[in-house]
Amino acid sequence: MGKLRTVKGMNDVLPGEIERWHRLEGVFRERVERYGFREIRTPIVEHTELFERGIGEATDIVEKEMYTFTDKAGEGKKGKRLTLRPEGTASCVRAYLEHNLQGQEPVTKWYYLGPMYRRERPAKGRYRQFYQAGCEIYGDPGPYVDAELIDMLVGFLTDLGVQDVQVLINSLGHGATRARYRAALLDYLRPRAQGLSSDSQRRLERNPLRVLDSKAPQDQEVAANAPRILDFLSAEDAAHFDALRSALDALHTPYEVDAHLVRGLDYYTRTLFEIRGRGGDLGAQNALCGGGRYDDMIAQLGGKATPAIGFALGIERLLLAMEPAVAVARLDAFLAAQRPEDRSDLLVLARTLREAGLHVETDLRGNSLKSQLRRADKSGARFAAVLGENERANGTVMLTNLMQRNAERQEVLQADLARVLRR
Ligand code: HAM
Repeated sequence: MGKLRTVKGMNDVLPGEIERWHRLEGVFRERVERYGFREIRTPIVEHTELFERGIGEATDIVEKEMYTFTDKAGEGKKGKRLTLRPEGTASCVRAYLEHNLQGQEPVTKWYYLGPMYRRERPAKGRYRQFYQAGCEIYGDPGPYVDAELIDMLVGFLTDLGVQDVQVLINSLGHGATRARYRAALLDYLRPRAQGLSSDSQRRLERNPLRVLDSKAPQDQEVAANAPRILDFLSAEDAAHFDALRSALDALHTPYEVDAHLVRGLDYYTRTLFEIRGRGGDLGAQNALCGGGRYDDMIAQLGGKATPAIGFALGIERLLLAMEPAVAVARLDAFLAAQRPEDRSDLLVLARTLREAGLHVETDLRGNSLKSQLRRADKSGARFAAVLGENERANGTVMLTNLMQRNAERQEVLQADLARVLRR
């Protein structure tokens, strides 16, 4: 067997890089909790049927991108079909129904962070295991909460220093609007079917909206002149969209209306949005975040009809759009033992300092003092503290400030060390 490697399209995140993830996740949690969202964690594996019914069978995700396997069967039983979650929305709805939250609170606001799996062709910003941070709201029909959600996202991106973004919004209407639009779109597409990609030809009758979302150049050419859904909105749908726009205007949240925005999932109704990055290191995968309303999903999955809206953002893509450097927490002190037999005392001292909240590193392998001090220098620690025979007897350490050239060594009482390091 050759060298062991990660699965194609799946990545390790090593120390050095992980600090940027922590920063992003911390800023995300902090921002969304201020808006009343609470965290939910659902399993990575779900019954395949959840995604087939929740996301829609004529989508790229369900048709070709899911990691699905048959679980081992119990005695005399058939193994269940399970899938690694390709997104978080369907799982959250499943949890919302399973734990009967519908009956318990009028509006539920959840957020989540975690890995998702799609068997896409890997490229920069597009992976087979990727991480999303997302929010879902159940029980509010909008449109004010829709505006608040989009504005919260823009605020989050600003917190991270990602400002060069484009916020696109559209409305997909609801019920009768969709049926009328679908019919008009089919009338337009059918005579042009020969010119479409084979995927679009195959899905044309089942799911004509997908053609608008296709990346194939021949589909995009046909889609460019297709009828616009905004021209088909019912009076209620149009009023919903107008109120969303007024609320965004009141918040001074910048946005553009894109009447051809469809997005790759079938569950959306009314408000739809996507945030694209223009700066940083993004390249072609510039969709940082996507979301929208899915007022029908809860009923479709067996619950009482409940309006819902949410979004998810791609963490790897956001990291590509963010400033490269994030400061790593600096070590306060590196403790070194003069002799191997001083190590137990060193352990006790290190623990005391760490309990006091300081960042402390040691080298406990029993190497020479010189070698330990070389590590201290390389570690970037602010101070080196040496514990030897005399210091043990006096209850002190010899402290050197590594941030100053030719700094004097200073004898400090162990009992005072935390205070001195903090200064
Ligand atoms: P989505 O547009 O499929 O929506 O994904 C949201 C974001 O996840 C994308 O904008 C992108 O940043 C990131 N993403 C998607 N696929 C990949 C990939 N293969 N590699 C790296 N990043 C990727 C959803 O997933 C919906 N669940 C969003 C939502 C929540 N709608 C309502 N609630």
